[in-house]
Amino acid sequence: MLYTDPRLVALYDILNPFAADTAFYLSLADGAAHVVDLGCGTGLLACEMAKRGVRVTGIDPSPEMLRVARARPEGDQVTWIEGDAGALPFVGGRADLLVMTGHVVQALLDDAALLTALQAARRALRPGGRIAFESRHPAARAWEDWTPERSMKRIEAPGGGTVEVWQERHAQPDPATTGRVAFTTHYRFPSTTGGADGAETLSAESELRFRTADALTDLLKRAGFAHIDWYGDWTRAPLDETSRELIAVAR
Ligand SMILES: C[S@@+](CC[C@H](N)C(=O)[O-])C[C@H]1O[C@@H](n2cnc3c(N)ncnc32)[C@H](O)[C@@H]1O
Repeated sequence: MLYTDPRLVALYDILNPFAADTAFYLSLADGAAHVVDLGCGTGLLACEMAKRGVRVTGIDPSPEMLRVARARPEGDQVTWIEGDAGALPFVGGRADLLVMTGHVVQALLDDAALLTALQAARRALRPGGRIAFESRHPAARAWEDWTPERSMKRIEAPGGGTVEVWQERHAQPDPATTGRVAFTTHYRFPSTTGGADGAETLSAESELRFRTADALTDLLKRAGFAHIDWYGDWTRAPLDETSRELIAVAR
């Protein structure tokens, strides 16, 4: 629902604007001829790369996210594919870089599914081509902030009015042990008439997987990526136990 309800998809770019992560992935694409963006969402990064003359293929299973992507000013310069890693064999050419941004790898809950995606990514890349993605570092326990009190944001809706957005983590065993976090994101839309009575709340369920750097290293190596550079943030700081992100660039 988060990526399929048009009212929620319309808020995605407001909640996820161009930021340090976008700049990081753009710098990786410097000099690349062909980049694949797997889980491209609304296509912000894909279009920024296309603007710089890179041939880009954006793949995402959500037609609603792709509808926003296609409507961007550079949307006609990107090849968009509705699908997931299963579409990678159909991507023409051998890519220089494949990115999975916005914590897409965490949506692949099972190791078997992530391994299959990484293996398909390896085959879609030219020899020496690179894969890059990030996953939230479990040690930073990001889920502790996914409570109504800590996560409440107020944003201006495209159609006017203020939308309240907050997360609510479900009661569950410690994610540090299970590696899984289930939560609901709530969106409270203002009443179209201005009164409190007509306000509407949409709620979307999500589950994410938190893997350690060791677990991700193991999957990358099994998929054929022998050399991995790890970073702990978007300035390329070395990864350590205080890092909030596990950022992998592998070949
Ligand atoms: C948090 S968004 C990230 C979008 C974009 N990469 C970004 O950085 O803004 C997650 C995206 O992953 C997509 N997605 C979900 N499951 C996927 C899968 N198995 N393979 C590829 N993409 C998937 C969703 O449709 C959604 O667009």
